[in-house]
Amino acid sequence: MKKTRVGILGATGMVGQRFVSLLENHPYFEVVVLAASSNSSGMKYIDSVNDRWKLNQPIPEYAKNIIVEDVQNVDSVKEKVDLVFCALNMDKDEIIKIEELYAKSEVVVVSNNSAHRWTEDVPMLMPEINSHHLEAIQAQKDRLGTKKGFIIVKPNCSIQSYVPALNALKDFGLEKVVVSTYQAISGSGKNFSDWPEMVDNVIPFISGEEAKSELEPLKIWGTFDGKKFVNASEPIISAQCIRVPVLDGHLATVSVKFKEKPSKEEIIKRWKEYRSEIEKYRLPLSPNKFLTYFEEENRPQTKLDRDLYNGMGISIGRLREDNIYDYKFVCLSHNTLRGAAGGALLGAELLKAKGLLD
Ligand SMILES: NC(=O)c1ccc[n+]([C@@H]2O[C@H](COP(=O)([O-])OP(=O)(O)OC[C@H]3O[C@@H](n4cnc5c(N)ncnc54)[C@H](OP(=O)(O)O)[C@@H]3O)[C@@H](O)[C@H]2O)c1
Repeated sequence: MKKTRVGILGATGMVGQRFVSLLENHPYFEVVVLAASSNSSGMKYIDSVNDRWKLNQPIPEYAKNIIVEDVQNVDSVKEKVDLVFCALNMDKDEIIKIEELYAKSEVVVVSNNSAHRWTEDVPMLMPEINSHHLEAIQAQKDRLGTKKGFIIVKPNCSIQSYVPALNALKDFGLEKVVVSTYQAISGSGKNFSDWPEMVDNVIPFISGEEAKSELEPLKIWGTFDGKKFVNASEPIISAQCIRVPVLDGHLATVSVKFKEKPSKEEIIKRWKEYRSEIEKYRLPLSPNKFLTYFEEENRPQTKLDRDLYNGMGISIGRLREDNIYDYKFVCLSHNTLRGAAGGALLGAELLKAKGLLD
């Protein structure tokens, strides 16, 4: 298979670094451009991230000597790449503009940013759940007037554990969901040395996160009418999002009310037997098993289970009857892998496998 030439916009940031690392020796993609702000451009990548490389694994050799480009130099970048992964931290309006500029320059944009999540013909992709939403790409290309360029986005990291768990139970009629998320500090691009206030502390506010956690699942479960996505009308979701002192891994507690209450055994069976339609592509980053149900009472645990299947697996546990709703349970996903760079890269792998990058 011929490799697709890719660039990473925001390559010096925390999510960008994950992309740099995950794309080392990737069978489908070859990284040829690393881009960031004008503060970093012109420097070798290794020098630009010198004292701010945040991952445990070292900077990959292939990336060290690449000269960082300015994200704004679209004319130069577009000549070298067919696809860009976007992990910029800029104003929403600026990101909307820059991502659209790349798409209109015939570059496919796979974005980690929220900016285009509500653009009416942009798929918000969770590859194992709504790959059929890629049908919107042609309508989007028609609107943009492009032959090859289009945008897909990944949903927010907070929803990556409970939407998969609930999706497996959709047939029972999801009516109401109450969720509380316990979110890692890397979700804001920080570690403990950048954010010492988080040591021994809990902060009960993450700007904008609750609205995303309540609304984005409805687009994921929505339909495309040929021109725009129409949100699902159910379930009603109520979310509280809390920052907790862990480095990586977003845990969620969930209470759910069904239209037809299943038995506990039926729910666990659904989770254990869940098969996604993308398994057949055997994508490099696909977890061996999308959902894992733990029988142990003290699982999933953030530190112990976040790296399940290289951080791409979803862990679920503690299913029990709820005194107000039908059931409650706990679930977990890795926020910078499944919830950010890994989820976006899996989406790009799916585009490649489906021939949408040809
Ligand atoms: N961290 C997570 O778990 C997570 C999860 C999901 C989504 N996200 C989202 O992903 C995005 C990136 O997050 P992050 O944590 O990686 O952020 P970050 O560490 O702050 O990195 C931001 C990147 O954007 C670049 N940048 C900033 N301002 C720019 C400008 N004016 N022009 C061009 N480039 C600019 C930076 O380049 P310089 O180094 O040159 O300044 C850097 O490469 C954010 O929108 C965030 O909300 C993060």
